[in-house]
Amino acid sequence: MEIRFPDIPLYQGWGHPYRVEATIRGLELVEGHLPPEIEGTLLRCGPDRQYPPRDGSDVFIDGEGMVHTFRFSGGQVDYMSRWVRTERFVLQEKARRALFGRYRNRFANDPAAGSARNGTANTNLVFHAGKLLALKEDDLPYELDPETLETRGRSDFGGAITSVSLSAHPKLDLVHDEMLTFSYQAKGDGTKDIVFYALNRDGRVVDEIWFEMPWPGMVHDFAVTPNYAVFPFFPFITDIEAVKRGAPFYQWHPDEETQVAIVPRHGTARDIRWFRGPTMSAGHMMNAYEDGSKVHLDVCLYDGPCFDFFPTPSGQSFPTPPPILTQFTFDLSDGKPAYTLRPLARIPGELPRTDDRYQGHGYQHGYMVAGRGADGSSSVGHVDHHAGKMECWAPGPASAVQESQFVPRRPDSKEGDGYLLTVVNRLAENHSDLAVLDARNVAAGPVALFRLPVRVRMAFHGTWVPAETFQTRRYGMEIVP
Ligand SMILES: [Fe+2]
Repeated sequence: MEIRFPDIPLYQGWGHPYRVEATIRGLELVEGHLPPEIEGTLLRCGPDRQYPPRDGSDVFIDGEGMVHTFRFSGGQVDYMSRWVRTERFVLQEKARRALFGRYRNRFANDPAAGSARNGTANTNLVFHAGKLLALKEDDLPYELDPETLETRGRSDFGGAITSVSLSAHPKLDLVHDEMLTFSYQAKGDGTKDIVFYALNRDGRVVDEIWFEMPWPGMVHDFAVTPNYAVFPFFPFITDIEAVKRGAPFYQWHPDEETQVAIVPRHGTARDIRWFRGPTMSAGHMMNAYEDGSKVHLDVCLYDGPCFDFFPTPSGQSFPTPPPILTQFTFDLSDGKPAYTLRPLARIPGELPRTDDRYQGHGYQHGYMVAGRGADGSSSVGHVDHHAGKMECWAPGPASAVQESQFVPRRPDSKEGDGYLLTVVNRLAENHSDLAVLDARNVAAGPVALFRLPVRVRMAFHGTWVPAETFQTRRYGMEIVP
């Protein structure tokens, strides 16, 4: 069978499937100097199509997981990219063609796919309790060898996880070495079950709270505070009967309100507080924190559906303006189900991150991919919540940035004292750079810039693992008051 990718917008230019597993020992430094205190590995994950899609169409959140690592050691950076050998990948490799149908729609699979899971492990990575895991929200994680990236197999933490999947947006408590995560449609496609899990430093489940969503929806991300897990439900809903007839896995329901569950982390489903508000959506949360009886949740909020390729049940699509970082405030003292909204930035931004030690806590610094030029360019944005301002670094014409990763200068540095590691897409030149920015002075541009001879196709998310952590299994980070 010939390999011919369809001529669809997703595959034009930078989005063309890359399908390369690369190893580069020592990236070329083209500007500045690498600060010696950066020792560890930046891991990122994104989709790349192994074979042309079965029905000639594709959406950017599908495609087999490709893991990219940047290992900082002794003043050099080594780069490696490897596919995650999921069940799906291995079957397709044998068949030498795509066997899995439209996004998450197992009813559109080739019979040769059998009962294999659709999971692509294409969204994010986490290192917890000695396991490096590649994540996609529709399946359990795949464990990888941290050194070679060889796929070891699907992991349910030794049977501790009983849901059919785990989120690609876990939150790590870097001080106590706890992983907080969840699964939605947790008993199978189209189910309303959702479960919150806390796993301790040994990978044992120490909190587990099951409850029902308002509908069998999509819950891409959530947020945590010391006492609560915050789950927003935006109306992307699965109608499994429609999916069987070939409809997209999610449909947008503009007639449904946004609903938010504030779940006491150490309580039960009966203690959940529910809030409601206008129909909107968000893929990503920057952070959440408690303030007396209030919980604040900061998200990149779209005034409409954030995924325009999931139309309404009647097939309507909505063009949605770009997202604005916005704060939801839930007051737990007055018993009312309404929340308030407050914009936190004027420039649109997505893929929000923080100094991860401060996840769940009051914080000053946030980082986003900001703006988008007509030529596809974008900037690294640093939001200073205390000063109420945002500064940006633009990497130049026809250059886009991927999600930035914060690395603290030391485990006990003040919040925001450290570096941002940012992969830059040189769209016209068809290769990538890796920028190292001083997180306290983002606008000044990189303190070190490395050039890759290859292209890092747009990855979604990633994580930073200090060199020691791979050995000790502990992050040992501190929050500085
Ligand atoms: Fe995401």
